[in-house]
Amino acid sequence: MTVGCRAPSSDCRWLRVALCLWILSFHFVYANNEKTVSALTVVEGSEPNEGDGEAHVDEEVDPEDLEVFQPTNQWQTLRPGQAVPAGSHVRLNLQTGQREVKLGEEGTLRYWSDGKRQGMVNTQATSFTAQELKKALKKFKEEGVEPSDKDQEKREAELRAQYRPIEELKKDMAQLDMLVETDFQVMTRLIAKFNHSGATVEERVAALLDLEYLVHQVDNAQDLVSMGGLKLVIDALNSTDPRLQESAAFVLGSAVSSNPRVQVEAVEGGALQKLLTLLATERPMSVKKKLLFAVGSLLRHFPFAQAHFLKLGGVQVLGDLFRAAGGVALRVRVVTLLYDMIIEKELISQAGLDPIPDSSHQERLRQYAQISLLPLLAEQGWCGLVPELLASPEHDWREKALRTLLAMMPNCQALYRQDQALSRSLSALQQQYQELALSERGLGEDDGYFGEILSLLDTVLLRVR
Ligand SMILES: *[C@@H]1O[C@H](CO)[C@@H](O)[C@H](O)[C@H]1NC(C)=O
Ligand SMILES: *[C@@H]1O[C@H](CO)[C@@H](O)[C@H](O)[C@H]1NC(C)=O
Repeated sequence: MTVGCRAPSSDCRWLRVALCLWILSFHFVYANNEKTVSALTVVEGSEPNEGDGEAHVDEEVDPEDLEVFQPTNQWQTLRPGQAVPAGSHVRLNLQTGQREVKLGEEGTLRYWSDGKRQGMVNTQATSFTAQELKKALKKFKEEGVEPSDKDQEKREAELRAQYRPIEELKKDMAQLDMLVETDFQVMTRLIAKFNHSGATVEERVAALLDLEYLVHQVDNAQDLVSMGGLKLVIDALNSTDPRLQESAAFVLGSAVSSNPRVQVEAVEGGALQKLLTLLATERPMSVKKKLLFAVGSLLRHFPFAQAHFLKLGGVQVLGDLFRAAGGVALRVRVVTLLYDMIIEKELISQAGLDPIPDSSHQERLRQYAQISLLPLLAEQGWCGLVPELLASPEHDWREKALRTLLAMMPNCQALYRQDQALSRSLSALQQQYQELALSERGLGEDDGYFGEILSLLDTVLLRVR
């Protein structure tokens, strides 16, 4: 079973609770004359990488629950004081005279709830994939968790009818604990699965997608590095199969997102060079998008990587990508990547706007000062490329184009002042957005979206006329 999740932590908590309840979902203990249905216990395996005390989730722990039984696909002997779900198969072993139980055969995933608690049962596989976990979490959220007292009583009555006491017990909590895999263990397993020489492309892609889910967590991404998994992922970019290239780029991009330590490892591991080499040649659109995503994540807030990107001819590669036929959505992504780089440097250079103001501000300034993106963009024809996006039908894309035009103004202004076609298309847009902004104000929105685009247009026009 995998225990994995990404922020926010409340999701995380629920997911863990849900998963642990999976294990314990068979452990309703219905004691004949004592309390009715006892609480479910939530157990967590110890996680070597989590020292924050969040590893244990105790929700209404009841000592009775420590005597639990978990049916599996094999027949197992039961001991007194235990209960199993009505769906389980129970039989009498004629040789030993003991009761035995195993899982009933039903659909793969079954969901249940009991008062505030809920869980799911995987009736076939012994583990959950990331996809199943996401599905389960979504379902829990949709259904809500807090039935009224009356509902609860009814549920309990139903449960009493459904679950019957049985007599034999085999497993104890220690064994159950071992069934809960930590993220670290899951990742170890996924990496082994991916690295297995006999694995098919489908199996490898599935392992990568499960890893992608896990590496959103900062610690997991760092574990990926220490396990040697990042290197495998970077190597997989070289694969001849586009599906593997795409998923490897996806894992890489997610692992380095907002994770400076992993960013450093990836750049040192040659990831940037590989990504750019791949982007420079013909690829399916889905692969290009993920490659671009990984490049953007590697560069963000990492001036060293940005300088490297310029040296490796990254601007040229993106220019070719923009010029190649292939959909305006990809062009917008390319421009967004460049715009983000320009603005990031600008913010850091403007005193007081550094998003991470601390003692290393001077050093950061020095590093960003070495990145000379704007002159290079002008030199490689970007002053002329960006206005092409103005022709797109999407307001968002036009807005992105306008903001980028403004950002490039220091190096493109002279050119723009002579560009009659640009001036005409800006004027036409100005007229269009004047009308849109007017009707927006008519609806009572004074600081509306169209008004914002209009003021961007006004600013750009002022500077190009
Ligand atoms: C992947 O497999 C190769 C060859 O079997 C092995 O040498 C290597 O250590 C494995 N890598 C990881 C990260 O498990
Ligand atoms: C991987 O790709 C790089 C270029 O991106 C190439 O130089 C290298 O030889 C390739 N490695 C393998 C093992 O194919």
